[in-house]
Amino acid sequence: MSYIAEEGTFLKRAHDTRNTAETRAFYTDWAETYDSDLTGEHDYVQPRRCADMLSRYLADRRAGILDIGCGTGLCGAALAEAGYGAIDGCDLTPGMLAKARETGVYRRLFEADLNVPPLDAADGAYDAAVAVGVFSFSLIHPDAIDEILRLLAPGAPLVIGVNAKFYAEGTLARKLDALKDAGRIERLTEEHGDHISSAGMTGWAIAVRTTSAVSG
Ligand SMILES: C[S@@+](CC[C@H](N)C(=O)[O-])C[C@H]1O[C@@H](n2cnc3c(N)ncnc32)[C@H](O)[C@@H]1O
Repeated sequence: MSYIAEEGTFLKRAHDTRNTAETRAFYTDWAETYDSDLTGEHDYVQPRRCADMLSRYLADRRAGILDIGCGTGLCGAALAEAGYGAIDGCDLTPGMLAKARETGVYRRLFEADLNVPPLDAADGAYDAAVAVGVFSFSLIHPDAIDEILRLLAPGAPLVIGVNAKFYAEGTLARKLDALKDAGRIERLTEEHGDHISSAGMTGWAIAVRTTSAVSG
């Protein structure tokens, strides 16, 4: 296990924030080194896994995609590499959004707190969404999926990348089950695999699709 999962490192502290202000302050501090802490030899593979999963369900490379909790833009970059060209991103932390802007892959970037809807986007505005590394302890609550569904067109895929420890906690799985039972989503696939390879962390990539009855 590499240093990034050791005591005192950002990754180890990531689950300790207790409220929105602390989360924003934490990611403001991390923004500068986030990419070097998680890429290269550290191999945070979920952005790539989720972009690959989305491409199974979204053939149109001009489709509008919202990257929820886009952070520094690692998912946007993976989506661009998969050929997508109309990617928007939103995030709680201005410092992370500033780094995302530097990637040059986003059409629009905006500040948003997913736990406090509504977001600044119209009903059905997007053909797809990804949310990678954002449903976790002390970050975005799974109930935020209601607001994400509002922004998606009928039949739009949503791909969620989540670390295995949080998924095992159960709130996200229960939320997805409830939405399926209510006829609001179809569950497409979920696959277990690497999350951050060097830290020995595994995770799930999960794809769902909105049904035509997305409102309500
Ligand atoms: C672990 S990072 C993941 C970033 C990116 N998706 C990735 O995979 O590299 C979590 C991100 O979620 C954002 N975040 C945390 N709470 C949020 C909230 N309530 N609303 C929107 N974004 C939030 C943080 O600012 C941070 O950029």
